[in-house]
Amino acid sequence: MRRVMLMDIFTHPIAQKYLNRSGVAHAISVAEYSVKLALKHDVNPDIAAKSGLLHDIGHYEWYTNGEWDFEKYKKNDIHAIKGAERAHKLLIRLGEERASAKEIALAILLHTDSYLPENSMNKTTLQQIVRMADEMDEEPQGKHHYRKISKDDAIKRIERLDNLIEQLFIDLRETV
Ligand SMILES: [Fe+2]
Repeated sequence: MRRVMLMDIFTHPIAQKYLNRSGVAHAISVAEYSVKLALKHDVNPDIAAKSGLLHDIGHYEWYTNGEWDFEKYKKNDIHAIKGAERAHKLLIRLGEERASAKEIALAILLHTDSYLPENSMNKTTLQQIVRMADEMDEEPQGKHHYRKISKDDAIKRIERLDNLIEQLFIDLRETV
């Protein structure tokens, strides 16, 4: 059993507040894609899932007169920086191991380079995975942030992911 489950994170009021803002359906899809990619690339699926789930937790809504303002967003947005900090704080509060919380925060910090010079750094496989998973779920005009999901379905998918990761760790322990 992991110290912190996805369900602990997902149901925490802080996660609920901010994930609802940036889209619960998108967060869960990115967590699912992150696990798939983690298995393919030999990355810890638990850390990948948590990074995927929380990658947009720092989002702020950039609106002008009720309309999404892309220019304003591009100029001012720091959601990756805010998200990394917010996710780290939440994970530590929930009892996550410090090294894992740091890895997750860094993956969130680097999941977009909208605020960095293009290709300015070498990224770890985990960091690349979260970015790829995010792109896999992206829709034009940021529509992925507004896709709806019922609370029941969200809980079911989180539970399924938690069980899958638990099983993966059990299988791993049996093979070593
Ligand atoms: Fe995203």
